[in-house]
Amino acid sequence: MKKIIIIGGYGNGTVALSTIEDINKRDKTWEVLGFLNDNETEPINGYPIVGKINKTVVQKYIEQPEVYFFYSLISVKLNFKFLSKLHELEIPKERFATLVHPTAVISKFSKIGYGTCIQPFVSIGPNTEIGNHVQIFAQSLIGHGAKLNDYSYVANNACIGADVVLKEGAYLGTNATTLEFVSLGKWSVTGIGAVVLKDVPDYAKMVGNPARQIGTVN
Ligand SMILES: CC(C)(COP(=O)(O)OP(=O)(O)OC[C@H]1O[C@@H](n2cnc3c(N)ncnc32)[C@H](O)[C@@H]1OP(=O)(O)O)[C@@H](O)C(=O)NCCC(=O)NCCS
Repeated sequence: MKKIIIIGGYGNGTVALSTIEDINKRDKTWEVLGFLNDNETEPINGYPIVGKINKTVVQKYIEQPEVYFFYSLISVKLNFKFLSKLHELEIPKERFATLVHPTAVISKFSKIGYGTCIQPFVSIGPNTEIGNHVQIFAQSLIGHGAKLNDYSYVANNACIGADVVLKEGAYLGTNATTLEFVSLGKWSVTGIGAVVLKDVPDYAKMVGNPARQIGTVN
């Protein structure tokens, strides 16, 4: 059995844990060693904190080839602030686990990168490309031909039309919907319930139906 460490904690870390537990119910795949977390010391949902998030701790586990990592510190609040932390850890890409919930329906003509998490009841159409460290939350629909670049984030129930592109780090909020062929700019944030009809500029903050820009992501 492979071993896994979740980098993060309450929030997205526990969501990833939940998916791992569901994978294990169907097919015992992962032994969860625990979390790396800078703030917590007590166990999270029954799993210990095995260290702080730093290179020294990580290197100790990299020496054990059966240990994999999942980096969960990517969200609308954390955004690319935490990206440098991920890179500082220098974890080889093949040591990041890709987690796919057993209820997700994924076309065999889809490509999925490393360190990505696909949550319950997600549907991913044919000829899609899902990059590295992408998070796709429960019940989201990814239309055929869509391309989700590295670090992009799709919150629950979002609906991505065919051939849509989420550029690096683009965030799509809960229940948001996009017209086909649009692109969401680098590290842009589109709020809950937005209806995106046109391309979203890089770093734009968008809300509403039709989606309009209300600001810029710092
Ligand atoms: C878009 C978003 C990032 C804006 O957050 P923010 O920068 O803190 O913006 P504010 O809350 O200050 O709101 C600014 C204005 O936009 C409006 N607004 C914010 N989010 C909105 C949304 N999703 N739809 C419509 N209007 C919205 C606010 O009412 C406010 O309007 P006002 O100036 O007339 O009062 C945030 O509201 C959002 O939707 N985040 C996504 C959350 C999500 O998907 N979470 C996943 C589940 S956990």
